[in-house]
Amino acid sequence: MRVLVTGAEGLLGSVLVKRLTGEHSVVGVGRRLLDVTDRRAVDEMVRMVQPELIINCAAMARVDACEANEEQARRVNADAAGYLADAAQAVGAEMMHISTDYVFDGRSSRPYTHEDATCPISAYGRSKLLGELNVASACRKHYIVRVARLFALGGSNFGSRIFDLISKAAIENVPLEVFAYPVSQATYVPDLVDRLAEIAKWHDYGTYHIVGDGLAVGWDKFAEIAAGLMGLKLSVKVVEYEQKGLIARRPLYTALRCLKSEKLGLPPMRRWEEALQAMYAEWKKVC
Ligand SMILES: NC(=O)c1ccc[n+]([C@@H]2O[C@H](COP(=O)([O-])OP(=O)(O)OC[C@H]3O[C@@H](n4cnc5c(N)ncnc54)[C@H](OP(=O)(O)O)[C@@H]3O)[C@@H](O)[C@H]2O)c1
Repeated sequence: MRVLVTGAEGLLGSVLVKRLTGEHSVVGVGRRLLDVTDRRAVDEMVRMVQPELIINCAAMARVDACEANEEQARRVNADAAGYLADAAQAVGAEMMHISTDYVFDGRSSRPYTHEDATCPISAYGRSKLLGELNVASACRKHYIVRVARLFALGGSNFGSRIFDLISKAAIENVPLEVFAYPVSQATYVPDLVDRLAEIAKWHDYGTYHIVGDGLAVGWDKFAEIAAGLMGLKLSVKVVEYEQKGLIARRPLYTALRCLKSEKLGLPPMRRWEEALQAMYAEWKKVC
């Protein structure tokens, strides 16, 4: 299959390109090769590559940057997703669009399914929801894949750097500052890309919720489990987002359940705690 991956230099996009290359003919384009907000460039790229599947990993994913500039968030996360979906439809391609648990308000007391009502409470969530709607209305053969709390070695977010952060706190003998929410399921990027590749084989379009199996936790519990793997007793200091000048509202609880995967008979994803252990083994080799 010819696959075009946008946002190919990001956390998810870079791992996805590596995973699909070999099995598929993959063109991965980062922002320097394709700014997805440039409609003409999107059309030209899609006409040139003639993909059978477009996977959109390009996003303005920093929640507080979106809050500070909602217009730009809308351009990248919503308008551009629509351009890609239009272009996919024009060449008869499928489109897989990566979205987020932040389309929910976090007030549920049970895992969200795709049948639950969306109600974003941040500029990021609103722009991502609009992106989903643009994709669904423009491209008939679409997958919307909502994911949450991504982590992988080499990433720059808290989950990806957890072992470095814990080491540093231990060396400096200071508590690790953590946010207690959202309470959500962490998702190991290598596991996620395997599942995306699997889903693409089924051609069963619609909305998927793909997260690591296991308990939904805050960053405090996530850090505690990571420290346990390192054989360290961690002291954590729970901080509020506002104390750190972070302005976006976050949903409190966003565990997800995937009815589509259950219907297809796909096995549950690996538990994120086990995946974290796998990442720790990798971290020990390079640290
Ligand atoms: N990370 C998470 O925990 C998480 C959780 C839920 C959902 N998601 C979703 O998962 C997807 C992948 O996220 P990620 O963590 O891989 O984010 P990421 O590392 O920030 O990757 C996004 C990529 O998109 C690029 N990009 C931004 N604006 C662009 C533009 N106008 N044209 C082309 N590329 C552009 C970014 O480039 P620059 O770096 O140059 O800006 C970056 O390389 C996103 O849809 C995100 O909303 C992520």
